[in-house]
Amino acid sequence: MDIERTFVMVKPDGVQRGLIGEIISRLERKGLKIVAMKMMKIEESLAKEHYTEHKERPFFGDLISYITSGPVVAMVIEGKEAVSVVRTLVGQTNPREALPGTIRGDYGIDVGRNVIHASDSTQSADREINLFFKEEEILSYSKADEVWIYE
Ligand code: RTP
Ligand code: MG
Repeated sequence: MDIERTFVMVKPDGVQRGLIGEIISRLERKGLKIVAMKMMKIEESLAKEHYTEHKERPFFGDLISYITSGPVVAMVIEGKEAVSVVRTLVGQTNPREALPGTIRGDYGIDVGRNVIHASDSTQSADREINLFFKEEEILSYSKADEVWIYE
């Protein structure tokens, strides 16, 4: 079974709008496992490192301001092909293009207020998990429903 870990973050707008529970519920109901989680305010240096791939883009400054503007909830999510599964749940980057039923499709309008982050590849996931979590903060445990989620 191809169990992956991915990095997910409820962005400051998601926290301010009271969507933490809704987002976590969707991940749980899908059958994904939360193996690490913390609420934090991202320092500017960490924000720049996290979004380093976008440092030359015109929206970089706005993106850093947005992501450091208030608390976020950072998580490591585990499951079969978790990276692509979570990206599908999250929806397109621009919430106006994201399909209804996805998190961004249901809760967002502007690209600069798109509620949630999720890693776009297993390489990004490894890099981002290491930026936000120490190895000992990531838990390994069995969940009682696993036999009913995986065949
Ligand atoms: P994320 O990294 O936050 O999960 O989002 P993503 O993969 O869907 O999109 P990405 O291309 O990595 O962009 C990162 C974030 O930058 C903001 N953005 N603004 N104004 C713009 O054209 C623009 N494009 C991207 C969004 O907040 C996006 O989530
Ligand atoms: Mg991205």
